Amino acid sequence: MERTLMAAAAHAALAQPWSWLLAPLSGADEHHIADWTAWHARLMVLGWGILLPLGALAARFFKIVPGQDWPAQLDNKAWWHAHRAMQYAGVLAMSAGLWLAWGTGGVRGAAAQLHAWLGWGLCIAGWAQVAGGLLRGGKGGPTDVRLRGDHYDMTRWRVGFERVHKSLGWLAIGVAAMTIVLGLAIADAPRWMAVVLVIWWSAFAAAFALLQRRGRCIDTYQAIWGPDAAHPGNRQPVVGWGVRRYTAAAWRARSGPP
Ligand code: HEM
Ligand code: HEM
Repeated sequence: MERTLMAAAAHAALAQPWSWLLAPLSGADEHHIADWTAWHARLMVLGWGILLPLGALAARFFKIVPGQDWPAQLDNKAWWHAHRAMQYAGVLAMSAGLWLAWGTGGVRGAAAQLHAWLGWGLCIAGWAQVAGGLLRGGKGGPTDVRLRGDHYDMTRWRVGFERVHKSLGWLAIGVAAMTIVLGLAIADAPRWMAVVLVIWWSAFAAAFALLQRRGRCIDTYQAIWGPDAAHPGNRQPVVGWGVRRYTAAAWRARSGPP
């Protein structure tokens, strides 16, 4: 019975791919959602599905941009501007999306309840990331007007910021992917949306893996001040998983394109 149903569904998908893709996930004939739901979904996907993950990718892998002659050229701020612009815009989209959904739920099923809890957790995480970023402390070092600073000295405050900001940020991005899937399910969204999202997240994961393998996740400290052991932070362990340090020669000899 089960197999005949699946075969019939596969047959329908192959015979009329467009109408299969346009139909809701449940296979129902009709699909209605309220305007607020559609805009809630668009804004949340824009924020947590696109801008925040891309901004995190920029912060992780583009501290040195392709073609930059590191360590002759230090402290390229491209990643910094990209990260702040995308994270602010992402958190703004998220906040508008929350405002649209807030208080709309009546009696909730289990999936909607879980979506609402995870969704609230993500909104709090998003705001906390902005607060953490703003409270990260001073910079200091030879590229600043003052030599002393939380980052140049790698104070406990700065180390704590890097630990919390990196782990909470990536954890939240993983939870966001699940929350979006739950959202699509409770809204019984058209199938093409789920298909596009699966392709998008797979491409994101593949880009992450490729850049990680190519050794592009360089320690922020080195990207800014170079590899010289005279800088205090270079004598401390790096913070976070998969973060690399290089000598000038090792960076130049790094195999492959960007
Ligand atoms: C005003 C807002 C923000 C500021 C000033 C800021 C600042 C920073 C800084 C300085 C770093 C580099 C840390 C390091 O490598 O030592 C960083 C990395 C990161 N940020 Fe933000 N951030 C902000 C908002 C956000 C938000 C909202 C998210 C939400 C997901 C986020 C996610 C991340 C992640 C995942 C990384 C780590 C990338 C890696 O693996 O190296 N940030 N951010
Ligand atoms: C990571 C992205 C998302 C976040 C952070 C998020 C967040 C939330 C939150 C916090 C609520 C509950 C609001 C309240 O307390 O009243 C909610 C409800 C809802 N969301 Fe999302 N959402 C996301 C993505 C989506 C998507 C992609 C869809 C649909 C395609 C969606 C559909 C809904 C629906 C239908 C409700 C109402 C549930 C009910 O009470 O019946 N959400 N969302």
